[in-house]
Amino acid sequence: MRYLPKNQTVLALETSCDESAVAVLTIEPLNGMQLMANCIASQVDEHAKWGGVVPEIASRRHLESLPFLVEKALFDSGLSIGDIDTIAATVAPGLAGSLLIGSLTGRTLAALHDLPFLGIHHLEGHLASVTLSANSPKPPFLLLLVSGGHTELIEVVDFGKYKRIGRSHDDAAGEAFDKVARLLGLPYPGGPSIEKISRDGDPKRFKLPKGRVSRPEGGFYPYDFSFSGLKTAMLRLTQSLEKSSDFFPKEDLAASFEQVVAEVLVERSLKCAEDLKMETLVMVGGVAANKRLRKMMSQRCLEKGVNLHLASKDFCTDNAAMIAAAALIRIQSEVEPSSMKLGVAPRWRLEQANLLYGPNPPF
Ligand code: KG4
Ligand code: ZN
Repeated sequence: MRYLPKNQTVLALETSCDESAVAVLTIEPLNGMQLMANCIASQVDEHAKWGGVVPEIASRRHLESLPFLVEKALFDSGLSIGDIDTIAATVAPGLAGSLLIGSLTGRTLAALHDLPFLGIHHLEGHLASVTLSANSPKPPFLLLLVSGGHTELIEVVDFGKYKRIGRSHDDAAGEAFDKVARLLGLPYPGGPSIEKISRDGDPKRFKLPKGRVSRPEGGFYPYDFSFSGLKTAMLRLTQSLEKSSDFFPKEDLAASFEQVVAEVLVERSLKCAEDLKMETLVMVGGVAANKRLRKMMSQRCLEKGVNLHLASKDFCTDNAAMIAAAALIRIQSEVEPSSMKLGVAPRWRLEQANLLYGPNPPF
């Protein structure tokens, strides 16, 4: 970490999906990072009624929650807005309306208080979540980012220098958890629901497909993912079991599904790390909170001699502390602030994150 001439305090907003969040993070040259406040107003209960995120409801709730969350974050941190050096907000990717609320609130705060504004890429936020732990990894490393919207293997040459090596061609792993949970009659979000009941299930009871993506010229993409076949297999299995037996083995189905998703993620990540000769693997994102996956990844990395860094469970699902951490990384690399005219981009790749800074906004 480079020496910073003075303390830096960031107030960050995260509103890309269904969590409204505000955090205050400080870095002191001698003491490192200190999370001063981390506030979240989860909308999960409201979206659970509909079985998934309803974009219009999400935007409205962000709009209602943010003023209170900003005040609470400042109160919790014991700071006032005059102590803040930079305002940051997620501007891509995510739900357009939700991103707009966070970005507009951030830019308004910055303009009102004459502060620089940094637009943050949500996936860079997830990546930065691992720096909130005591033992933060140094690039280069391989990143497995597994969330509700993304399943990607990314070579992190340095912070800001990214190369996507693998991705899902259909559903993200978290999306598969959410859809399969609905099939099993479990509440949204599916990941924690499946994790809870699969504790009492047999993960080897059902053999499920590992979803490979064919190359047009033959063979498979070695580092890519596909979860749609697995989802269909779960649907067929569920339907036939509902018809044929009196007892529906929900726990075994959940455990077998969780097991195969974890195996696929672990196997492909380790193959990628081995082929790229990466000594360090980092796992972040909502699905990275999953216990079975964390345990399996830890064991296999130990066997293969790969250093593994897991984001702390508290920072795997969406939060604003990770957005503030990404902002501090950007401040350390001395980027120019984002333009006040920077808009939002619902689909914007991590490789394009550097374009968010400077006077000419890309969108
Ligand atoms: O990172 P995140 O909060 O939001 C996105 O950026 O997408 O990830 C949310 C996803 C949801 O699909 C949720 O079901 C999944 O992460 N998830 C989990 C667990 N906790 C959250 N999946 C598996 N096991 C968990 N414990
Ligand atoms: Zn996320």
